[in-house]
Amino acid sequence: MLKTECKKTTSSELSTFSKGSYWITTFGCQMNKADSERMAGILEDLGYLRANDEFEADLVLYNTCTIRDNAEHKVYSYLGKQAKRKKLLPKLKLVISGCLAQQEGESLLRRVPELDLIMGPQHVNNLQNLLEKVESGNQVVATEEKYISEDITSARRESSICGWVNIIYGCNERCSYCVVPSVRGKEQSRYPISIKKEIQTLAEKNYKEITLLGQNIDAYGRDLPGTTKEGRKENTLTDLLYYIHDVEPIRRIRFATSHPRYFSKRLINACFELEKVCEHFHIPFQSGNNDILKAMARGYTIEKYKRIIDNIRDLMPNASITADAIVAFPGETEDQFQDTLSLINEVGFDLVNTAAYSPRPNTPAALWNNQLSESIKKERLKKINEVVEENSKLRNQRYLESIESILIEGINPKKPSQLMGRTRSNRLTFVEISNNSTPQEFFGREVNVKIKEVRSFSLSGKIFK
Ligand code: SAH
Ligand code: SF4
Ligand code: F3S
Repeated sequence: MLKTECKKTTSSELSTFSKGSYWITTFGCQMNKADSERMAGILEDLGYLRANDEFEADLVLYNTCTIRDNAEHKVYSYLGKQAKRKKLLPKLKLVISGCLAQQEGESLLRRVPELDLIMGPQHVNNLQNLLEKVESGNQVVATEEKYISEDITSARRESSICGWVNIIYGCNERCSYCVVPSVRGKEQSRYPISIKKEIQTLAEKNYKEITLLGQNIDAYGRDLPGTTKEGRKENTLTDLLYYIHDVEPIRRIRFATSHPRYFSKRLINACFELEKVCEHFHIPFQSGNNDILKAMARGYTIEKYKRIIDNIRDLMPNASITADAIVAFPGETEDQFQDTLSLINEVGFDLVNTAAYSPRPNTPAALWNNQLSESIKKERLKKINEVVEENSKLRNQRYLESIESILIEGINPKKPSQLMGRTRSNRLTFVEISNNSTPQEFFGREVNVKIKEVRSFSLSGKIFK
């Protein structure tokens, strides 16, 4: 969900200048969060002010996810409450966007007739036009496949230090369990020049970190015309990293999500060579068993996956490696599940996001007759989470007493006397400061911190002079 820390909108501001107030709740991945920031930017350009309360807003937008079925259920309960409100307040505008909106399309109108606008992820940049149609009294459904026009709007970003930059939309893979290709459409890469321009704009506003985003970021450029030189395309992710590296004062560059099928040695070399590219790689493996990987249609073997990790660690021994894994995929035996646990122990991940398999509409695996029971799903998820946590704790020990460069992003919300930031490897870190310094003077700065405490998912330390 989108966490916000912003200036409160006063009632006089609302009545004097604005078109009304808006509220956005975001579900799902970083791509959805980046989309929400763009839609918030469009709404503010139109004169909407951010509401202080979801149930007081004049326009409510739910940006949804459908990766697993539990992501779906929450939205329906939120929508139900807003639909009731709309009965008393007909002027309320109710919008559903994102992947669930794309998946369900018009059928959502039968479920929630109070909806004004249903829009898929490819229509985000077009929100203004869609709202104009709503204002002329229509109920609008925008889910047709669309070429995503260059972003001419300015995003309303949550952070003033770290910014997300989409470089490729959609996904052309066909993993047998995954709903993303059917809801996010075909791959569409942005041109390097537009990406660089967006990063320059962020740099002018003094942003210090950018994260390049794509569902399969390693596929970047394969749909671009790109000239061929020495037998390769020039518009790859690796080329893009070299091309954007000189933008100042950006200090850190990250990218996600990587696909093992396309993760090249050339990319690893570039990450090693380019100073601003952080030593953090998010490379989902999904399963530790080759037969399951085949059934998932992932297009690589565990041997290849381990070679990628070895190649990274040969050059960057302390790099952080994170991943995603699915347990209880249809037909997964106990032994195959054990292979996943063994892989986690063997590789030593910093973190693995885990999930039990969830059958999704329009995906092949959902139709197979070898589905596993809920109790096996629950049991395997519990077991894998224990193994992941043990590994994270162990891996984190390497930070103890080390000196890490932390980019300060703000204040620890649970302990305002501490600063909060991240290591280059993306570990959340809390930093003590002396009584005579003000936290704000550190925002956006990289400071050296001696790590004094290590937990499974975060670190604490003191400024090291
Ligand atoms: N593009 C990325 C992942 C996108 S979805 C990749 O290829 O790895 C994010 C994560 O959700 C996936 O890595 C996977 O672990 C999980 N996921 C996707 N579909 C799922 C499903 N049907 N059931 C359970 N988990 C799923
Ligand atoms: Fe889904 Fe596979 Fe595409 Fe990732 S690469 S978004 S898991 S289809
Ligand atoms: Fe969810 Fe769509 Fe992202 S399904 S994980 S919001 S691409």
